Amino acid sequence: MMTMHTDVFDLRKRIYIVTGGAGYLGMKHVEAILEANGRVALFDIDPTVLEKINGLHSKYEKDVKAYVVDITDEKQVTDAVESVMKELGPIYGLINNAANNPKMRETNQKTTGSRLETFSRETWENDLAVGITGAFIMSKIAGREMAKNREGVILNIASDLSVIAPDQRIYRKEGEEKASQLKPVTYSVTKHALIGLTKYLATYWAEEGIRSNALSPGGVYNPNIDPDFMKKLTNLIPMARMAEPDEYKGAVIFLLSDASKYMTGNNLIIDGGRSVW
Ligand SMILES: NC(=O)c1ccc[n+]([C@@H]2O[C@H](COP(=O)([O-])OP(=O)(O)OC[C@H]3O[C@@H](n4cnc5c(N)ncnc54)[C@H](O)[C@@H]3O)[C@@H](O)[C@H]2O)c1
Repeated sequence: MMTMHTDVFDLRKRIYIVTGGAGYLGMKHVEAILEANGRVALFDIDPTVLEKINGLHSKYEKDVKAYVVDITDEKQVTDAVESVMKELGPIYGLINNAANNPKMRETNQKTTGSRLETFSRETWENDLAVGITGAFIMSKIAGREMAKNREGVILNIASDLSVIAPDQRIYRKEGEEKASQLKPVTYSVTKHALIGLTKYLATYWAEEGIRSNALSPGGVYNPNIDPDFMKKLTNLIPMARMAEPDEYKGAVIFLLSDASKYMTGNNLIIDGGRSVW
């Protein structure tokens, strides 16, 4: 008889914090955790996070809670982590997902100052504050609780741009090359830095039973994407399409569960093959 190993994907009512839980992909990570029998605390600076979980409450009432938290503020993070431990229980895992994620070439977006020559220091500092300092603060404060319990997982949401440079040709609009909105330098820098943080945490807390990995998604389809941009982007992808928003759920469950219990310090790249071309 064939043995089924699906039980290793069961999250066993363990408690996971997801930062940027109100966002497009964050909500998918939350659904994945709940569907795999985990419990989840969403952290987001956006107060609508409190309403966004209403739809989940009917099915998962005791398993999901939302907190309005600015992850760049150590005091707010310390207080929110305390509240999670009181209201849900011991923290088993953390997904560092929040980032300033520029929506590139969506039809409803205006050109902004994303060219390197004029990129402001203020934007640089703000993007790094959320994308990398926030991940450091969250890992330090939630991670030390996991270290006390001698078990846990940290998952950093990077990007295919954690391993390749952006191809700026796909963002340029014909006839307005100099004015076009490009992928900002801070996106590459924060995503590469997250891989460094992933490896550091993996070795630092290995003996405390904490694993740390990164997931690097390729671009996710949404209905506001400019069709001309989508054509240029999908030309760079061997599978010739963007990801569907649900296509990372399996990987998230894998990386948060015992199914990956001998994996640490690694970066799982799921990009339709873009980075191997
Ligand atoms: N969407 C994609 O195509 C794609 C592709 C590859 C990687 N990613 C990565 O996935 C992650 C999620 O992307 P998304 O598309 O869902 O972005 P999103 O902009 O929809 O969500 C980001 C969330 O982070 C929150 N946030 C911002 N600053 C915060 C702060 N200081 N404290 C707490 N929360 C804060 C925002 O309020 C928002 O809800 C990002 O790290 C992004 O870089 C996205």
